[in-house]
Amino acid sequence: MKVLYVASECAPFIKTGGLADVIGAVPKALAGLGVEARVMLPAYPALAGIAAKGKVVWEAEALLGGPAKLRACTAEGIELMLLEAPHLFDRAGGIYLDATGQDWIDNAQRFGALSQVAARVAMEGATGWKPDLVHAHDWQAGLVPAYLRQWGAEVPSVLTIHNIAFQGLFDPTLMAPLNLSPALYTSEGMEYFWRFGFLKAGIAYSNKITTVSPTYARELMLPEFGMGLEGMLRARAGDLSGILNGIDLDIWNPETDPALVEPYTVRKLKAKTANRTEVMSRFGLTPTDDAPLFCVISRLTTQKGLDLLLEALPVLVGRGARLAVLGSGDKALEAGFVAAAHRYNGTVGVIIGYDEPLSHLMQGGSDAILIPSRFEPCGLTQLYGLRYGTLPVVARTGGLADTVIDANEAALAADCATGVQFAPVTTAALEQAIARTCDLFAQPKVWAGMMRRAMKHPVGWDTSALAYRDIYADLLEQD
Ligand code: ADP
Ligand code: GLC
Repeated sequence: MKVLYVASECAPFIKTGGLADVIGAVPKALAGLGVEARVMLPAYPALAGIAAKGKVVWEAEALLGGPAKLRACTAEGIELMLLEAPHLFDRAGGIYLDATGQDWIDNAQRFGALSQVAARVAMEGATGWKPDLVHAHDWQAGLVPAYLRQWGAEVPSVLTIHNIAFQGLFDPTLMAPLNLSPALYTSEGMEYFWRFGFLKAGIAYSNKITTVSPTYARELMLPEFGMGLEGMLRARAGDLSGILNGIDLDIWNPETDPALVEPYTVRKLKAKTANRTEVMSRFGLTPTDDAPLFCVISRLTTQKGLDLLLEALPVLVGRGARLAVLGSGDKALEAGFVAAAHRYNGTVGVIIGYDEPLSHLMQGGSDAILIPSRFEPCGLTQLYGLRYGTLPVVARTGGLADTVIDANEAALAADCATGVQFAPVTTAALEQAIARTCDLFAQPKVWAGMMRRAMKHPVGWDTSALAYRDIYADLLEQD
C-alpha cells in the first residue's frame, strides 16, 4: 500500500510544533505494517542540502508564478518528496511568518502550490511512483482533497486535523489564481464567513477525517471547540475518528538520549537526579530536594493556558517548588515570564527561545511538566513526560485527558495513577493541581510508584499506526 503524506513540517528537518514530530514518526511506524509512506514537504532553506541530493521526479515551468521541481530522496530513514519552488519557499524567516511576525503575504499561494502538486502526483504519479491514497495534514495540505474532487480523481484522501485553531482562511478573490472552481465556494464546501478555508475544504472533500485523540474528536463537534466547523464535523461524524498520537521511542528514550547528562531507566531512577541538578543550574534555580521542579516546554499562546500559570505562580512559589520555562511566542506572555523570573529570582527560571536539546534535558531533569491548555488536540510533551518519569500535570481536555491518569484516591489505591489532571481550566483549579502535586511529591514512595507507572505507560505508535493502516485499508477495500 502506497500513501502520500502531505504536510508543512517534519522532524527532524523542520519543526515548529507537534505536527513535525508526528509526520517524522508515523511513516517509520507504518513501514513495518506494509505501508510505504512518502512525505511531501516544501523545500525550505533548511531542507536545501537534502533536496540537492534528490532526484527530480516531476517539474513544471510555471507553478503559481515560478518554476518548480519535485525531488525524491531519503533522509533519516524517511522517504521525502521535496517541492522546490524558490519563489515560494526559498526565503529567510519562519516557515509561516515573516521577520515581523506576520503571516507571509502569499501563504495561500505557497501551500496552495504544495496541495496542487500533491494532487497531481496522486493522480498521475511521479516517475513510476503513484500513491494509492493521499493523507493530508492540517490546513497547509487542506486543498489536496478539493483539487482531487475538482479534477475528478479516483484516488481517496484522508485529512488529519492537528489543530482546528489554524484554518488557513483567505479572501475568495484568491480562489481563481489558485485554479479553484467557484463551484466549491458554498457553505457545504469551502466558504467560511465570506472567506474560503483550506481546512474546511479538506473537511468537505476528504473521504475520511481523523484527529489526534478520541476526546478531541468528540470536542470538535461542540461549539466550544469546533471554531465554527462543529456543524460540518457533526454532519461528517461517521467519517471522523480520533487516533491518539504516539512518540518516537528511539528519539525520546532516557536510556540513550544524548541530551541528558546521565542516562536512566525505570530500574535506575536515581540517575535522573544528575539531570535535575543540571536543569536547576541551567535555569539559575536555587537547588532544593523538598519540593518538585516543574517545567514548561511550550509555544506561548492562548491555547496553552500559560497566562493561568502566571497567575498561579504565588502558590507554586509559596510551596517552595521550582519552575523552569522554555518557550517562545506571544510577546505579552514572554514578557510575563521574564518578569516572573526577576521577581522570583532563584525559584522561577525562564529561557525564551526554541531549543530542542534543552527540551530533552528538561524532560530528563524535571519532576513534573505543567500543561494547563485551554484545548489540546493531543499534546506530545505529556507523552515525553510519561516516558521520562516527569509526571504530567494537565488540564482535562483533548489528548491530555486521554493519556494521563489522575492521581485521585481511587487511582492511587488501584496503583494506576500517572499524573495530575484538573478541570475546569481556571487559575483556581490549576493552583489546586500544583498544590496536589506538591503533596504527592512529599510522599517519596507514592511519587516513585507514579514515576515507574508513567515510564511503563505505552506511548509508542504501535496501536495508532495500526489504526491508520486500517483506515487506509478500508478506503482501498483491502484486508
Ligand atoms: P503543539 O504542537 O500544539 O505546539 P505538542 O505538545 O503537540 O504541541 O508539540 C510541541 C512540540 O514542540 C514538542 O515536541 C515540544 O517538545 C516542542 N517544543 C515546544 N516549544 C519548544 C521550545 N521552546 N523548545 C524546544 N521544543 C519545543
Ligand atoms: C497540534 C496540536 C497538538 C498536537 C500536534 C500533533 O499542534 O496543538 O495538540 O499534539 O498538533 O498532532
